[in-house]
Amino acid sequence: MSQTNDTLPPPPFKIKMVEPIQLTTLAERKEYLKAAGYNIFNIPAEKVYIDLLTDSGTSAMSDNQWSGLMLGDESYAQCKNFYNLRSVVKEITGFEFIIPTHQGRSAENLVFYALNLDKTKIAVSNQFFDTTRANIESMGAKAHDLVIPEAYNTSIYHDFKGNMDINALENFLNQNSNVGVIILTVTNNTGGGQPVSLRNIEDVSKLAKKHNLPLFLDAARFAENAYFIKLREKEYSEFTPKQIAQKMFSYTDGCMMSAKKDGLVNIGGFIALNNKDTYNRIKERMVITEGFPTYGGLAGRDLEAIARGLTEVLSEDYLRYRYQQLQYLGNNLVKANIPVLLPVGGHSVNLDALRFLPHIPQSQFPGWALTIALYEKYGIRSVELGSVVFAHQKEDQTWVYPDLELVRLAIPRRVYSREHLDYVCQSIIDLYKSKEEIKGLKMTYDPGLLRHFNALFEPISS
Ligand SMILES: Cc1ncc(COP(=O)(O)O)c(C=O)c1O
Repeated sequence: MSQTNDTLPPPPFKIKMVEPIQLTTLAERKEYLKAAGYNIFNIPAEKVYIDLLTDSGTSAMSDNQWSGLMLGDESYAQCKNFYNLRSVVKEITGFEFIIPTHQGRSAENLVFYALNLDKTKIAVSNQFFDTTRANIESMGAKAHDLVIPEAYNTSIYHDFKGNMDINALENFLNQNSNVGVIILTVTNNTGGGQPVSLRNIEDVSKLAKKHNLPLFLDAARFAENAYFIKLREKEYSEFTPKQIAQKMFSYTDGCMMSAKKDGLVNIGGFIALNNKDTYNRIKERMVITEGFPTYGGLAGRDLEAIARGLTEVLSEDYLRYRYQQLQYLGNNLVKANIPVLLPVGGHSVNLDALRFLPHIPQSQFPGWALTIALYEKYGIRSVELGSVVFAHQKEDQTWVYPDLELVRLAIPRRVYSREHLDYVCQSIIDLYKSKEEIKGLKMTYDPGLLRHFNALFEPISS
């Protein structure tokens, strides 16, 4: 079991620059919501008090990273920052070829293109993130999740709820000869930031080798995953996070990384891999969409910030504090009997909207309704990972709703203090007391793919 400590030691950094935030009034927020079509993505950021929409691209960079920006070499080809990034990524991942991209989803797009994912192919993962799934499906291929069943039960504890179901994977590979790639998402964002064990990565790797399939990590939160391994997988407790990360990558053929998470930067990503043919196909393709392969849609200074962020993120002090911050919020909510996905994840605390709002059916989007109520009453922005994001229609037009209806409180890295988390915690506790007043919503505009970004809603009045 992990610690259940609900105190929070001081952070291993101090504040050098501040950004003011302001709490608007309830009446103002009601108006903003109406104008936003009850879609939290449409609320101007200035009108949000505590922004837990995402941990992606929202990190506070260090003085070391900011000073690195001044060393940006903005040469079109072969800038020196590319070499700095390449050397850091090579050191952590062991991969030969490194390709910067402007963010994670472009890395996904390029890898899937290079692996020839088309309508005859299936991609398998513990659980795909929404953009990853969308990239696969937009190429005509199928995306199939095989996470362990425990991942779908929010109230049971499992050290590694992000693990791939090994038996299910073995059966699936035996029955389907058209799998094109296996992807392990570390940590599993869709399932609440849950980690994957090294043992599981090794087991998946054995099956991938047996079936001659490439295994890639979706490595957006590789450092947080490594820290969970250190805490929960006994044989690695004496390893440094970097050594664990190196081991994680060593079982795989490559990775796609959104550096906006564990790269501790506001924009950027990369692909790293060993296969030269795949590398060449990516290089040829990316000049059309991303730019020359040594800058990948980024400025030289961005590459420098990523290189430095990747080194900082593996600091044990940093990872310990990050873990404790998440535990602090999660455990205080649990203590107040708020239905929270257990155990607390690496980058987010997730409310179980089905248990929080049992009076709202999934056809009326309880998770979405909870995000709206949290913003309306307290100015807190969160995100639904439930029926708006994941429900889909069968051929007979009936809707299939997801097993999990989560509201994710994603904690930006090095941004909020304990006082901010206390405000969030108390707000949720207060909201829970009047939860029956929260009403469901009707979707008035459904844009289809990745619909949460652009959908519009109206509250259901009775
Ligand atoms: C696990 C995972 N993979 C991929 C992505 C896509 O990355 P980006 O937003 O940089 O395109 C995300 C973004 O949140 C993610 O969480």
